[in-house]
Amino acid sequence: MQKGPIMPTMVCCKIRRTRLLFAVLAVFPLVPPVMAQSPTVAATPPMGWNSWNHFAHKIDDATVRAQADAMVSSGMRDAGYLYINIDDTWEGDRDAQGVIQTNSKFPDMKALADYVHGKGLKLGIYSSPGPKTCANFEGSYGHEEQDARSYANWGIDYLKYDLCGLREIMKTADSPEAAHKIMVDAYIKMRDALRKTGRPIVYSLCQYGEDAVWQWGPSVGGNLWRTTGDIEDKYDRMEQIGFRQAGLAKFAGPGHWNDPDMLEIGNGGMNAHEYRTHMSLWAILAAPLLAGNDLTTMSPETIALLTNREVIAIDQDRLGKQGDRLRAEGPIEIWTRQLADGSKAVALFNRHPALLDAQFHFRELGFKGAVKVRDIWAAKDLGTLQGIYRARIPAHGVVLLLVSE
Ligand code: GLA
Repeated sequence: MQKGPIMPTMVCCKIRRTRLLFAVLAVFPLVPPVMAQSPTVAATPPMGWNSWNHFAHKIDDATVRAQADAMVSSGMRDAGYLYINIDDTWEGDRDAQGVIQTNSKFPDMKALADYVHGKGLKLGIYSSPGPKTCANFEGSYGHEEQDARSYANWGIDYLKYDLCGLREIMKTADSPEAAHKIMVDAYIKMRDALRKTGRPIVYSLCQYGEDAVWQWGPSVGGNLWRTTGDIEDKYDRMEQIGFRQAGLAKFAGPGHWNDPDMLEIGNGGMNAHEYRTHMSLWAILAAPLLAGNDLTTMSPETIALLTNREVIAIDQDRLGKQGDRLRAEGPIEIWTRQLADGSKAVALFNRHPALLDAQFHFRELGFKGAVKVRDIWAAKDLGTLQGIYRARIPAHGVVLLLVSE
């Protein structure tokens, strides 16, 4: 610490040092570029349910209430699933002042939010930055502040903002850069409108991963951003989306997540091994876990899959470091994820439609000596191991391990 009077040479050095500091700060700002919409939401990837994958247009107030009830009675809420998200088709017309109304399927959105909140859950909604949503309902274009206010007044906690109708307006741009700017500005506009309400609302960008959204998603306030087109309840589509996430890990972290789309677990189009692959891969990817099935008719197997505490703990790990591919050998892929307590999750996937063997050396994970290994889906401690780990992986299946020193 400097004591006594500051000498002229010191003043000059101080000025130089201050200049240097400013120069460094300009390149490496201490405050990150305007980050997530609200730092109080999505510290870990959002968990909940969304109406689209199972119900699409056939969603209404009574169905949403029934899903909220089932979220609690199935044990999903206590396992961490929090958001009940209404997707497209809730929208009505605007009144004379331009205020968005619900359609007849949702007679009273505030009462619905109260009901969902009363269950210890949160309510999400859907809109588009364009004049129309993907299902051709009313979008928020030109009404962003009004809509954000309506959502906040109703008690909405999560907004999925789906590009769709804005594409028509983007087509009028005279260059791809100008089209990109229209899109980015539209997302910023709703970010600012949501902020202005003062209510913490998770901001979910949905524009199918175009223009490398992971690079700019955080700066437009996205707490999560879809990295792909729509998922389907088919192994081929799910694995195409899931494995394509390789390399995106560095863009995710607390408050801002890559979103490879909602879960299809329990919708019936995949077998048990394939759904395990779906859940394991999404956990390694620190992906939002938004169930997309009918929670009122779940089999015990589906509940067990969705509520496996150890898999959820990987997804929700507080370090928030997304996992990535360690290596691939044809259809065998090995993915790892660093966890906060120093352990690592390791998933050995078999993308082939028949049984295959897979192996890795614990050294590949950065572990030098003996390690403790747990097989998560088998719910079995495998003891202390060293050297090479070998496993048989079922067709389209996975072995998910927790490895610690
Ligand atoms: C798009 C989205 C889906 C769903 C529908 C609703 O396709 O990607 O997730 O929201 O719109 O119309």
